[in-house]
Amino acid sequence: MVLEQVIADAFPALHQTIGDKPLIYLDSAATTQKPQCVIDAVSHYYEHDNANIHRGIHTLSMRATNAYEGARKRVATLLGASRPEEVIFVRGATEAINLIAQGFARPRLAQGDEILITEMEHHSNIVPWQIVCKQTGASLKVTPILDDGTIDMDAYKELLTPDVSIVSFAHVSNAIGTINPVKEMCALAKEIGATTVVDGAQAVGHLHVDVSDIDCDFYAISGHKMFGPTGIGCLLGKYDILQEMDPWQGGGDMILAVSFEETVWNAVPFKFEAGTPNIAGAIGLGAAVNFIEKIGYETMESKEQELLAYGRGVLQAIDGVKLIGASEHNAGVLAFTVDKVHPHDVGTILDSFGVAIRTGNHCAEPLMKRFGLTATCRASLSVYNNTDDLDCLGSAVKEAIRILG
Ligand SMILES: Cc1ncc(COP(=O)(O)O)c(C=O)c1O
Repeated sequence: MVLEQVIADAFPALHQTIGDKPLIYLDSAATTQKPQCVIDAVSHYYEHDNANIHRGIHTLSMRATNAYEGARKRVATLLGASRPEEVIFVRGATEAINLIAQGFARPRLAQGDEILITEMEHHSNIVPWQIVCKQTGASLKVTPILDDGTIDMDAYKELLTPDVSIVSFAHVSNAIGTINPVKEMCALAKEIGATTVVDGAQAVGHLHVDVSDIDCDFYAISGHKMFGPTGIGCLLGKYDILQEMDPWQGGGDMILAVSFEETVWNAVPFKFEAGTPNIAGAIGLGAAVNFIEKIGYETMESKEQELLAYGRGVLQAIDGVKLIGASEHNAGVLAFTVDKVHPHDVGTILDSFGVAIRTGNHCAEPLMKRFGLTATCRASLSVYNNTDDLDCLGSAVKEAIRILG
């Protein structure tokens, strides 16, 4: 069987109809579909190994602990972390960035300090910094982007002044798909001694990421955007920095000893994992890492790049369709508008043809504003898509224009 079919067959949710039309899923930037191996790993845990971790000496608890810690090792290896302890399980990229903002930034920032982000950030990489600015008196600066959806690197360099303490940016934009030059951006930030945070939520499901090579201080990921379950993600941080940090939340498992007089924190990474974590989610994420490694990033990237070029061709051939921020280095996002038709109406008509896309501001209101828009249509690709999906997208968009345009 050709690889394409093997991949498509691995995703049970893709094999259904919406009304009488086969589902065409083009919303992977919102969340990817889950391969059977991930679903099986989660079910297997609940059916056979369900127990709390780290605390029990009985067999189930040990099995659950081994599976959970095994998943940590799988993530560390996939992303090139120096050691598994550099991987902290959290709910997703949102929680990872909030952990950095509250656990790292808040105790270290004061009036006069600056946090530098970019104009293309997801709200998850804007609002946590706004909160910490309010708490500490620090201020937020924003690097503009160019018309082609890339970061204005000249402006970035100018904005990197000595007052900048933290620089935080997306590896890949969720709204327009731009792949940012994160290694270069981190190196420039290091020159002024800033701490670097990369929001990798949209990267790891598409690109080979090596945090040691990028040399960032923190890297945030979301399990559900890389074929894993919802409600699980990771914060990767340099070990020395994690050791210096105080915990963010208190509770069980993050302590070594508790008395009313004094409490001693557990070691990294456990001091950041208070309470019972999402054990099944972590195990599912470990299975998602196995899936990615089985397919291989090379295959994923080349397939998605072919589909992206094809999809751009399909949409550009339609009168009235305009691609937004279609940069050269793009991780499979087709952002577009349709003349005289509101994105929500396009999305509704497309759904009636079984085509699932995302419409709206994509949790990136400042980016929409940059392009003079309030909303766009976004078709986002993954390894299970094919050119037929994009032909269906094109036909459905033409229908939307015929009906509403
Ligand atoms: C670029 C980016 N950052 C952060 C997030 C937040 O991820 P989560 O909601 O999984 O925490 C998303 C989700 O869409 C995203 O696309």
